[in-house]
Parts: sequence; structure tokens; C-alpha cells
Amino acid sequence: MPAIMPWVIGNWKMNPETPTAQQQLTQQLIDHIAEHLASGAALVNLNLAVAPTLLHLLTVQQQLQQAKSAVQVIAQDVSRFAGTGAYTGDVSAQLLANAGIGMTLIGHSERRSLYGEDATVLREKLQAAINAGLKVVFCVGETLTEREAGQAEQVVLQQLDEVFDCIDLQHWQQNLMVAYEPVWAIGTGKTASPQDAESMHAAIRAGLKNYHSSLVDLPILYGGSVKPDNAASLAACANINGALVGGASLDADSFIKIARAFSQDRKAG
Ligand code: PGA
Repeated sequence: MPAIMPWVIGNWKMNPETPTAQQQLTQQLIDHIAEHLASGAALVNLNLAVAPTLLHLLTVQQQLQQAKSAVQVIAQDVSRFAGTGAYTGDVSAQLLANAGIGMTLIGHSERRSLYGEDATVLREKLQAAINAGLKVVFCVGETLTEREAGQAEQVVLQQLDEVFDCIDLQHWQQNLMVAYEPVWAIGTGKTASPQDAESMHAAIRAGLKNYHSSLVDLPILYGGSVKPDNAASLAACANINGALVGGASLDADSFIKIARAFSQDRKAG
């Protein structure tokens, strides 16, 4: 299996509170990366991205671009409806793409549980995103009850299965990533042990390979209370190709420490 370039993505969710705080967080990110580069500890062989609120996608992107930062800006969610039209409150994949946003999360557990997004909705969102040329981080994960009932793997593979055939294989190969986020680990301070996470990631990879051998190379990110002190042990797992970071991404220093753990240059720095 060729080396998969890791992704570390900060999911800012509905944070921070003011435009000034968004700007400061973005600036801190730029400064911390510059400090790392200045100290010779480059963040190499790594894709970095942040997902600010819809309200701030473009200002954060502009700020990063002005600083010539390689950090990409991605959306936290996308409308199930395509194009333009009478969909109050929504932003379509086409609008995102036209504004220069190239990627979105879909299926985050908060969208599934708080907004009732089921397989039908997620299939529509995936199709809308792919048709508009966006790349997608598709999130899966089991609840604590499902894990305790011994159903974690079955639930996660089912979440992939229920959307798999809604887009072409070629798009899975080129435009999809999977993020495994056990629901019980999100925002709770509880992380899956590296062994549990690795075993789920291996199961997801085997599941993808079953669909088609070429899908063995899809990046599979872990999310759920990733912090600087647990990032290295997660990064050391063969099937974990990055992290989707919530709470810790609101602190630029923590976020860059996590990124550093996944950087393939980390031993040199
Ligand atoms: P957390 O969130 O890192 O705060 O647990 C992860 C996520 O929901 O993407």
C-alpha cells in the first residue's frame, strides 16, 4: 500500500464567538506554522485544513491566502439541494465551489443526531457535493450503546454501505475520505484507545477494499477528543491517516502540535 498523505482538519463547529476571534484564531494558526517552519520543524507530507462556520469561510480563506498559507478551508456541511433556488438558510455545493471552497464534511454525527440526517439525506448531500466538484470527508461512527452491544463495526460499515452506491467508484477513488468518529468520543475527552481506533480503521479499510481494490488507499481519519497528548499514539497506527479535530483545533498551538504528530517529517524536527 503506498504511503497515504495524512490530513489534519480542524472542525471549528459553531466557534469562536466573534469575527475578531475568528480572525485571531486564523492569525495564530498562521503564526504557529511560521514558528514551526522557522525552527526547522517543517510540517511536511501533510494536508492541513480548517472548517470555520459558514459565516466565516471566505474571510478565513482570504486571510490564509494573503499569508500564502497552505492551510485549506473546507465547509462543515452542505445543502442536500443542488444549484440555486428557494431553499431558505441553505448553501449549496455549487455556491461553495463557485466561491472557491473545494471540500466539505458530510455526515458528522452532530448532523445525524441533532438534525436527523439519515441515509436518504446523506446520499443527496454526497451526490450534490460530488456533482459540484467538491471533495468530501464522509463521517461515520457508532454510539456508546452500539459499541457496548458489540455492534460498533457493523454500524460503521453499514453507514458506508448505505451511501456507497450513490456516487461512482471513480469519485470514491478521487474525491472521498472517510472520518471515523465514535460518537461517545466526540467532545467528551474520551478517546478510542489506539488499538480500538486502529482495529476499526482496519475494518473500514477492508470494507472499502471489498467494494474495490483501488479504495484501499483512501485516507481514513480519526476524530473524537484528539489532543496533543494522544495524537502521537493515534498517528503511529498503520491505518490512521490523520485526524478530524474539534475542541483542540480552537487552540492554534494544540492544533499544530497534533498536526506535527501526523507530519511524516516529525522524527526529523
Ligand atoms: P472533538 O470533536 O475533537 O471536540 O471531540 C471532533 C469532531 O466532532 O469532529
